[in-house]
Amino acid sequence: MILVADTVNEQYEQWVYPEPIHDLEAYYARGIAEEAEPRMVHWHYWPDGFYALQKQENIDILVAGCGSNQAAKLAYTHPKARVVGIDMCSASLAHEQKLKEKHTLNNLTLHNLDLHDVASLRDTKDGKFDLIISSGVLHHLPDPLTGLKALKTVLRPKTGVLFAMVYGLYGRMGLYGLQQAFQLLGLGQTPNDVALVRSVLAGLPAHHPVQPMLKNNLDMNYDAGIVDMFLHPMDHGFSVQDCLNWVNNAGLEFQGWLDPFAYEPAAWVKDPAVRAKLMALPKPQQWQTMELLNGGIRMHSFMACHPDRPKSSYQLNFNSPKFLTWIPIKRVHRFVPANGETHLPAWIQRDPHPPVPLTPPQAALFGAINNSNTVQQCIGALKPFTDVTDPTAFARSVLASLWEIGLVLFYCPS
Ligand SMILES: C[S@@+](CC[C@H](N)C(=O)[O-])C[C@H]1O[C@@H](n2cnc3c(N)ncnc32)[C@H](O)[C@@H]1O
Repeated sequence: MILVADTVNEQYEQWVYPEPIHDLEAYYARGIAEEAEPRMVHWHYWPDGFYALQKQENIDILVAGCGSNQAAKLAYTHPKARVVGIDMCSASLAHEQKLKEKHTLNNLTLHNLDLHDVASLRDTKDGKFDLIISSGVLHHLPDPLTGLKALKTVLRPKTGVLFAMVYGLYGRMGLYGLQQAFQLLGLGQTPNDVALVRSVLAGLPAHHPVQPMLKNNLDMNYDAGIVDMFLHPMDHGFSVQDCLNWVNNAGLEFQGWLDPFAYEPAAWVKDPAVRAKLMALPKPQQWQTMELLNGGIRMHSFMACHPDRPKSSYQLNFNSPKFLTWIPIKRVHRFVPANGETHLPAWIQRDPHPPVPLTPPQAALFGAINNSNTVQQCIGALKPFTDVTDPTAFARSVLASLWEIGLVLFYCPS
């Protein structure tokens, strides 16, 4: 009997995905830095400084369903970390192995292994990991809950973070419709049918909801990318509610969205009356409604952890007496000061989101963040603003709001 899981495996053996990178040095020389990489975002995973205290990178990372590049990329960018990559596709693993040899990645171990059997790994002292990264994988399993439960068994209870990226149900509606159309047309994973898919895509009307997904999409130039998007035999889309239930049913704690901007009413809902209605809802319903209002969230990237992880190590309490000792970390791509001539306010921006304007005292506070100043030191920048009568309360409110929408992270030393 051929299981759907076997056809998924056959697909990746024949259509190696993602497109193999041949030289990581050249790849990273282009300034590429991926969001979920701990070097980029460890303050989000471990605001208690676990990663920094482990001498930056002395941690165990599992890449579950690594594909052709991902485990090698992590081993290359985190040379002190121990990285284990698993996948069921021998063609992808062969490419990972090539990268390992080319770049002498002695910190990388690869296994041909179904992630459901992950508990059999013996690469770390306790068989467990500080960070599990599984992006674009779990939504291709026959039962994503069983897969997530399997990963939980190898997550270090006190320190572990599980990062998952799964496809968004509503943001991919146009694509799911096309997957169904191609099934009705009886298209399979052959070069001829890939050509037919391309032809259909080229003739779609401009109003088709898939159009925004086709623009600037590198997968469109790669046949295996077309197969992965349009001819996949198993592709579950997740809503916000599905993600939260899934994590809960696996016995994990939901830690947060990797980039909360799209999910938070304060970030982009302009009408104060609508915003107030949204803010009155419990957090999960706020996120659920925001997903529906946004309509374009194509993937959900989030962090989950073991229920035994101390909440104080990842939940930020802005009323903590230690707040003044925290160190804010900027998480924006642009910070543009106010322009005296044009009278435009200062603003900050994180791609791909719209800019967020700042008042003069907010801009002064933000400008004092240099990733080593404490909140107390940043508050010093508020001295000229005599109308800010309680600088600590002001900083607490501004920094909490920026953290909520993902524009600031924190190191919270204990
Ligand atoms: C879309 S690719 C993503 C690859 C990689 N995570 C990335 O982001 O570049 C999905 C990968 O998951 C792998 N995969 C699917 N089911 C798996 C399973 N049960 N165990 C291990 N790997 C699996 C596939 O072989 C494929 O390499």
